Amino acid sequence: MATTAPRPTTRRAADDINYSDLYERWERGNWSATEIDFTQDKIDWAEKMTDAQRRTAMWLFSLFFHGEDAVTDGLSPYIDAAPLEEQKYFIATQQVDEARHSVFFNRFMNEVVGLGDGSIAGGMNATAGQLSWGHKMIFQGLEDMCVALRTDQSPHQFARAITLYHILIEASLAQPGQHVIEAFLEQEDLLPGFRSGIANVALDEQRHIAFGVKVLADLYDADPKGTETAVLDVLRENGVFISGVAMPPNWDTSYFTAFNYSYDDLSRDGVKALEMRLKAVGIDLHSVERSPIAVDLPLDERAERGRVLLQANLVGPDRPASREPYPTEVMFDSIARAADVHAVPSGTVIEWAFTDAEPWQVSFDAGKCKAERGTARKPSLKLVVSFDDWADIFAKRVDARKLLLTRKLRPKGNLRLFAKFGKIFP
Ligand SMILES: [Fe+2]
Ligand SMILES: [Fe+2]
Repeated sequence: MATTAPRPTTRRAADDINYSDLYERWERGNWSATEIDFTQDKIDWAEKMTDAQRRTAMWLFSLFFHGEDAVTDGLSPYIDAAPLEEQKYFIATQQVDEARHSVFFNRFMNEVVGLGDGSIAGGMNATAGQLSWGHKMIFQGLEDMCVALRTDQSPHQFARAITLYHILIEASLAQPGQHVIEAFLEQEDLLPGFRSGIANVALDEQRHIAFGVKVLADLYDADPKGTETAVLDVLRENGVFISGVAMPPNWDTSYFTAFNYSYDDLSRDGVKALEMRLKAVGIDLHSVERSPIAVDLPLDERAERGRVLLQANLVGPDRPASREPYPTEVMFDSIARAADVHAVPSGTVIEWAFTDAEPWQVSFDAGKCKAERGTARKPSLKLVVSFDDWADIFAKRVDARKLLLTRKLRPKGNLRLFAKFGKIFP
C-alpha cells in the first residue's frame, strides 16, 4: 500500500514510529492483571476515601471498564482489514492488552468495591448504571463501525475505523481521563494496586495510539485527500456525542471536584491531544476546510463549546433546550462552520423562522458561510420550526424526515435547496 507513495515533504512525528519497534515494546511491556495486590486498596477504599471520592472512582472506573470491554470485542475486524502483516500482528497484541485492561478493572470492581460475581459479565451488569449517555452513543458508534469494517475493508473504511478507535476514543477520550485518575491517586497516595495497574494501562494505550497514528500516516501517504476526508467525517459524525462522555449524572460537579479536576480540564486535554495526533499524521486542523474543531478560537473557548451546548440541551439526551443567547450563538456558529460552501451558490440565505424564539439566518457569500441573528431580507429557504424541535434535529435526537412528515418542520421557498440540506450541513 503506502510504501511506494511519495512522502509529504515536512517531517511528521509519525515518521519516527515503526511497527516492529511497537511490537518489541509490547513484548517488553507485558504485565499481569491477575497478580496485582489489592490488599492496601481495600483498606484505602473502606477507610481513607470519602463518599464523594468513592462515588467518583466508581463512575470513572466504570466508564473505563465498559470501554475496555467494548474495544476488546471490537478489534477482530481491524486485524482482517489491516493490509500489512506487521499491522495485523500489532493489533493482535493490542487485543490481548484490551482484554487484560478489562480483567484489571473487573478485578478492582469485584475485589475492592465488592460488585459483581467476579465474572466479566457480572462486573459489567453491576456497573452498567454508571454509564453516561455520551459513552453509550460513542461505543454504539464503535460497534457499528466494527460491523461496517467486516464488510468493507477499503483503506477509506479502515481510516475511518482507526480514527474512531485509536484517535478519538484512545487518544482524545481515554488518555486524558487516565491522566486525571493517575494524578489524583498519586497526589493523595491512594489505591496503590490500582495505581500500578492504571500506569501499565496508560503505557499500553500510548503504544496503541502511536500505532493508530502510524497507520493513519501510511494511509495518508497513499491517499492524502481521501484519508483526510475519512478522518474529518468521523470527527464531525461524533462531535455531538463526544462531549457527553464525561457528563456526570445531573451535572453534579462533585464528580469532578472529588478528584481535583474540571470538565473543561478534560475537554482541553482531549482537544489538544486530538489536534496533536492529527498533526503527527500530517493533518493540520488549522489548514483544513471546515475543521470540526474551531481551531481559530482560543483553546479554552474551543474546549468549552461542547459543555456549553450540552448544558443547554442543544446536544445530549434531554429536552427542553435553553434559549439563552450564548449557547444558541455557539449552535449557529457550529452550523455555519460545518457548512459546505461548495454545495450552494454564493448569495444563498437560509432563515430559521422559529415559531417560539428569535429568528436566525445563515448566509453564503464568496466561499464563506456566516450565521447571524435576525430575519433575512430575501431568504432562499425558510425553515418554520419550534426551537426545541430544531434542537432535537441538531442534537441528532430525532430524524428531520420524521418532523417533516408530521409538519413540525416546514420548509418554505427553494425546496430543491432543502433537498440538499444534508449535503450542505453534513
Ligand atoms: Fe485499553
Ligand atoms: Fe487501547
